[in-house]
Amino acid sequence: MDEIELGTTGETVSPLCLGTMRFGSSTNLEVSRAILDRYYDAGGRFLDTANIYGTGVGDPGESESELILGEWMSDRGNRDDLFVATKIGFEYDDVPRSLDPDLVKREVEKSLNRLDTDYIDLVYAHVDDRETPLEETLTAFDRLIESGKVRHIGASNYYGWRLARANTLATERGFTPFSCVQPRYSYLTPHRDADFDPQRPATDELVSYCDEHDLTMLPYSPLLGGCYGREDRPIPDGYVTTENRLKMEAVQDIADRKDATGNQVALAWMVQRDAPTIPVIGCSTVDQLEENLAALELNLTAPDRSRLDGIETLGGLS
Ligand SMILES: NC(=O)c1ccc[n+]([C@@H]2O[C@H](COP(=O)([O-])OP(=O)(O)OC[C@H]3O[C@@H](n4cnc5c(N)ncnc54)[C@H](OP(=O)(O)O)[C@@H]3O)[C@@H](O)[C@H]2O)c1
Repeated sequence: MDEIELGTTGETVSPLCLGTMRFGSSTNLEVSRAILDRYYDAGGRFLDTANIYGTGVGDPGESESELILGEWMSDRGNRDDLFVATKIGFEYDDVPRSLDPDLVKREVEKSLNRLDTDYIDLVYAHVDDRETPLEETLTAFDRLIESGKVRHIGASNYYGWRLARANTLATERGFTPFSCVQPRYSYLTPHRDADFDPQRPATDELVSYCDEHDLTMLPYSPLLGGCYGREDRPIPDGYVTTENRLKMEAVQDIADRKDATGNQVALAWMVQRDAPTIPVIGCSTVDQLEENLAALELNLTAPDRSRLDGIETLGGLS
C-alpha cells in the first residue's frame, strides 16, 4: 500500500484509513481483531477511533473501540508502526459536548490510557464548540503537543469558515493549526435541506479551503452504509435526488464493465480525486475489508471519471 502525505503534518500515511467506530459494539471483539489483522497484513497503518466509540457497551464511559485497539497493538507490539487517530469533543456518559481546555486535557489522557500508548499521532476536535474561545482550545492542544502526548491535530464536523478562522488564528498567534479535516463526504451529494446535525457534510467552501491550504480531506461514511453495492441498502435519507439516481446508474455501469462492485467504484472515485483524499472506511467483516482494499487497484479512466463527475451535483463537488 503506497503511503501518501497527510495534510500539513509532513508525514505519510496509508491511502485508506481503517475506521473502528463499531468495534466492540455491533462488531464483536473477534471480528474486530480479524479486521485489524487483515488491514495490518495488507500494509494498512492508519487507524481511526474516538473517545465515544463503543461507550455504553462495557464499563461506563469507556470507549470499547480504543480499548480494543490498545490491546491489539500491545499484543502485536506494533504501536510504533501505526498512525493512530482519535477524537474528542462529543458528549457521552456524563461528559459534556465541549472543547474546554480542561476537558481536552482530561479526555486525551483517558484516550492515551485506553490506547495503552504514550502518544497519539492525530487528535481531532470531533465537533466544533462555539462556546469555548478557539484560542483556549488551541492553547490546550498546543500544551499536549509540547508534552509529546499528541503529535498533530485535525478538525471534524467543522464549517469551512470556522476552520479558516481557527487556522488563521493559529498562524497569527503561533498555535499549531489543524492539519487535516474529517467531514461527511461521499460520491452521492446530499440535497440542500438534508440535516445530519451534528455531522457536517463537506461543502464546496470547505473542500476549496482544504485544497488551497494543503489540508487532506478524510471523508467519513464514504460508502453511505455500503449503498453503492447492496440491494438491501437503498439511497439513504437526505440523498434521494434525481442526480443521485443517475449517479448510481453510472456507478453500476462502470462497476459492471470493470467486473468490480459499486462500492469499489465509489471508493476509487474518492481516492483518485485530484486533491489528496483518504477515505475512513468502515467494515463489519473481513470480506468487506478485502473488497474495499481492492478498490485501490481499480483505475478509473478519464472517460469514467468525466461520466461520474459530469452528473450535475448541487455543490459541484468532485
Ligand atoms: N468524524 C465523525 O463524526 C464520524 C462519523 C461517522 C463515522 N466516522 C468514522 O468513519 C468510519 C466509517 O464510517 P461509517 O461506518 O459510517 O462508513 P460507511 O462507509 O458509511 O459504512 C460502513 C458500512 O458499510 C457497509 N460496507 C462497507 N464496506 C462494504 C462492502 N465492501 N460491501 C458491502 N457493504 C459494505 C457495512 O455495513 P454493515 O455493517 O451493515 O454490513 C459497513 O459497516 C467509522 O468507523 C469512523 O471511524 C467518523
